[in-house]
Amino acid sequence: MMSVRPRCVAVCSVWLVLWVLVAADNTFTEELLLRPLASGHIHSHFEFTTTWSSPEISDAIHNYRDFEFAHYDLFPRALGEVVERYHVRELHLSLTQGLWRHRKWGYPVVDAPPGAQLWVWFTPTTDDLDQTWRDLVNALSGLICASLNFIDSTNTVSPELSYRPQGVADPWYASNSSYMRYAALPRENVCTENLTPWKKLLPCDAQSGLVALLHPGPLYTAHYHSLSLHLRPSCQDTECRSAQLELVQALSLVQLPDTSAEGYQDWTLHQLFLVPLIYSCPLANISRIYVDITDNEVSSKK
Ligand SMILES: *[C@@H]1O[C@H](CO)[C@@H](O)[C@H](O)[C@H]1NC(C)=O
Ligand SMILES: *[C@@H]1O[C@H](CO)[C@@H](O)[C@H](O)[C@H]1NC(C)=O
Repeated sequence: MMSVRPRCVAVCSVWLVLWVLVAADNTFTEELLLRPLASGHIHSHFEFTTTWSSPEISDAIHNYRDFEFAHYDLFPRALGEVVERYHVRELHLSLTQGLWRHRKWGYPVVDAPPGAQLWVWFTPTTDDLDQTWRDLVNALSGLICASLNFIDSTNTVSPELSYRPQGVADPWYASNSSYMRYAALPRENVCTENLTPWKKLLPCDAQSGLVALLHPGPLYTAHYHSLSLHLRPSCQDTECRSAQLELVQALSLVQLPDTSAEGYQDWTLHQLFLVPLIYSCPLANISRIYVDITDNEVSSKK
């Protein structure tokens, strides 16, 4: 009987050490930027960032090899499997409803055209990139429930100057467009079916953290909304000795809250999203809400 307790302590601390080892190379942060615009609209930009670092991942990035993931923790397995299988190095997908009004609203945090846009940089390990692209597009259609399968050779291009890699990339790679594919479907309708699978890629369930604010109703009556996934290899230090994989899931929307009888703009999170924010995501290292009122100062000086 006496030996039971110390053994448990030993076992438990081994678990704790293992957990810390595994958890240390995955981080998750959630942030919301709220920006009242001079036009009276409110721009909300959500960003959920998951990073994953390990010697194997860093090695694959520096040597332009395919990723081979082991021990998924916070990173979404469903996306990881697609990335591994289709030789993806960097991926940007956006699904947008409505047009961003630059003249009225200024610049968005991330620009996205109406409809669906997908651009991908592949590892140089693929022999038949056109086939890999087609297969990837089909896999992503299933993952995010969008009709990306309308992407084919007639609407796919490999731009020479724009859509350069946003992550770690040596010049020989970044300047060779034969490793990338770009396609846009301006008519793709964005709806609730895309939001649910996009939320499922997050480590916390839909009830905790900032994602709890994302209910379909207010989103789909907004003047503009854009849902996106950005995956890229990024540096962990200034010399980039070790690199990590970074996934940013972003959602931007523009709403027009009611103005009060006195002409003031009065709004609350509850009014904008129709749900209360109760819990933070326990897996998040950072959970923050920022309110940027610089536009207010500009308009009051006029
Ligand atoms: C770009 O990459 C392809 C495939 O590896 C290669 O055949 C081609 O020569 C490269 N182009 C340049 C300009 O380096
Ligand atoms: C978590 O966030 C804090 C700052 O709030 C930072 O100092 C720390 O390095 C972060 N931890 C990880 C594992 O990224």
